[in-house]
Amino acid sequence: MGLLADNVFSIKNIGLDIGTSNTRIFIEGKGVILDEPSVLAYNLWEKKVIAVGEKAKQYIGRTPQQIKTIYPLRDGMIRDFKNFKLLLKAFLKKIKKGKKIFKGKIVLTVPSAISDVEKKAIREAVREVGGGKVFFLPTAIAAALGTGIDITENSGNIIINLGGGVCEMAVIINSTVVFSEISRIAGTKIEEEIIRAIHDEYKGEIGENKAEKCKKTIGSAMKLGWLDVNHKILAKDVYTNASKELTIDTDKLSDAIKEPVSSIVNFVKKCIDIIPASHLKDAEHKGITLVGGTSLLAGLDKLLGRETGFTFNVAQNPLLTIVKGSGVTLNSLRKFKKIFI
Ligand SMILES: Nc1ncnc2c1ncn2[C@@H]1O[C@H](COP(=O)(O)OP(=O)(O)OP(=O)(O)O)[C@@H](O)[C@H]1O
Ligand SMILES: [Mg+2]
Repeated sequence: MGLLADNVFSIKNIGLDIGTSNTRIFIEGKGVILDEPSVLAYNLWEKKVIAVGEKAKQYIGRTPQQIKTIYPLRDGMIRDFKNFKLLLKAFLKKIKKGKKIFKGKIVLTVPSAISDVEKKAIREAVREVGGGKVFFLPTAIAAALGTGIDITENSGNIIINLGGGVCEMAVIINSTVVFSEISRIAGTKIEEEIIRAIHDEYKGEIGENKAEKCKKTIGSAMKLGWLDVNHKILAKDVYTNASKELTIDTDKLSDAIKEPVSSIVNFVKKCIDIIPASHLKDAEHKGITLVGGTSLLAGLDKLLGRETGFTFNVAQNPLLTIVKGSGVTLNSLRKFKKIFI
């Protein structure tokens, strides 16, 4: 019995945040134990997955012909169920660490507008890869729980999740998402603009990973007057293919990403226009909470504040807020029964 118990993973429930860019897993009683890119590397010749997560991401941009990298989610939605299953299976295998059975319950964070058809497909996928019963938790509620907001309050709490593929703005009152809007312009679009700008203005070619690094180190939503105005990166010359060092002007870079940044700001403004005034009233003193990786883009909170007149508070660890929120529900699934969708 003791031996069997040691080999079985069954007692643990898990919280799962599978995002367009990253996947996080929270294990009941342990906390966040996995935080890796939602990507697979697949060998077309051998017809098998050769790497997942962080290791698979390293193949991007230097992929040999026979190795394809795949993100099964796009714009916050599962676009490719076959590879979604492979990804999920690989991550579950990683956390099981050789133990045989995984029958724990799974709390999966999803946009509140998810359809029954999508839920059914996800349930089937989870079952096929050996997971247990799935509970769907709206991302906005998970974000609120993860930041320690009391979701049962009668007054409104406004949360914006700025991820890799999707922005969701939501209002929560009395444990219910009373408003939710989604835009498909988020972090990935900013990277695409960086790749374009390096190509058009510096005649250099860089891949997604370098563009993301550039965004994180010197990207900004507004000109911040940084001292490090010139940043060096290695790129391939578009004409000769030779490696060359480019000196990137940070102000030029913030001009280059103006379009997706403005789209995010306009999306938030549009939501503020349609959210009933009674819901907005509370945000005047509480502020609006930002979660998700793109909320870390330098100056974005300030720009949003300047353009809307509200205060925007970036959550403490915005990349992990949502999965931590799913973790809050794990040891009292019954209590949260009415909140799952
Ligand atoms: N310091 C940073 N500055 C700017 N962007 C950042 C920073 N850190 C992470 N990001 C971006 O945040 C995005 C990932 O955020 P997150 O992990 O919340 O998204 P996700 O959950 O995978 O996607 P989604 O919720 O949209 O499906 C990526 O585009 C990443 O480049
Ligand atoms: Mg996310």
